[in-house]
Amino acid sequence: MIQRTLVLLKPDAVRRGLVGQVLARFEAKGLAIVAMEQRTITAEQADRHYAEHVEKDFYPPLREFITSGPLVALVLEGDEAIDIVRALNGATDGRKAAPGTIRGDYSLSNRENLVHASDSPESAEREIALWFPS
Ligand code: PPS
Repeated sequence: MIQRTLVLLKPDAVRRGLVGQVLARFEAKGLAIVAMEQRTITAEQADRHYAEHVEKDFYPPLREFITSGPLVALVLEGDEAIDIVRALNGATDGRKAAPGTIRGDYSLSNRENLVHASDSPESAEREIALWFPS
């Protein structure tokens, strides 16, 4: 089934100059970029995006990080895009992510882990509406 998913190339990806390499992996897989914009978000926008995590202990440093500089938000489209993108990203913690995945190849952190992607059709719908309301 053709799906759309919301992806963030987090501030570490922009700072480290990895945007092109990460996008190339998604494109090489056959996913289409249907929207994309670089933004620096506020703490309030971060809280809306990470609504399910705001009460967790790890959230304050995550909010600090995600608002620390520009990120690239995009919507990817393709067959089974939600699960495919999460598989390409790899496990949340870059130290545990398998080699060959984006996090496994480029991250040593569970916070500065380069990418975010929607984890279900419901979160994709919510996150796409939040980031790209038009
Ligand atoms: S959870 O609690 O299982 O729902 O967490 P998870 O979905 O694995 O990750 C939630 C996002 O929080 C970021 N983050 C951390 N997660 C776990 N532990 C620590 N210490 C932590 N610090 C940051 C993690 O990168 C996930 O970000 P997203 O953008 O959703 O991938």
